[in-house]
Amino acid sequence: MDNTVNPSVDQAAATLKPYYKSHVFCCINERAPGHRRGCCKERGGAELRDYMKTRARELKINRVRINQSGCLDRCELGPVLVIYPEGIWYTYQTKEDVDEILQTHLIDGQVVSRLLLDPDRKDPKPLDALTPDPPGRPSPTPSAF
Ligand code: FES
Repeated sequence: MDNTVNPSVDQAAATLKPYYKSHVFCCINERAPGHRRGCCKERGGAELRDYMKTRARELKINRVRINQSGCLDRCELGPVLVIYPEGIWYTYQTKEDVDEILQTHLIDGQVVSRLLLDPDRKDPKPLDALTPDPPGRPSPTPSAF
């Protein structure tokens, strides 16, 4: 039996050099047209992710990986992306937004406040927005799918 004591994740994270300085996950999930939650792909997520990857290469941003991801469960706010290890989320719509995230966050190391997605933000689902809740009843939280 191996008696090796495994370090905690926090200990390992504090001592190991990360393979990437930043790892960006851009949702490009696609759902059938008309789905109540919509999806990042129908809002341009795939094209914007491709643009971000191309521009990151052109700008020679080192040790940054721009990946596509499946649904990150914040569909109503999409397209969305999350950058690790910071765990900072953005919602974005245009190539100019992508340019600003690349320059300000990944190159300058500053948060893009105008695109920041607060961890607690949960906009109502489109159908919920059309059916106001009766007084005193809390709004439901979005379900995963
Ligand atoms: S479809 Fe992008 S977060 Fe769900």
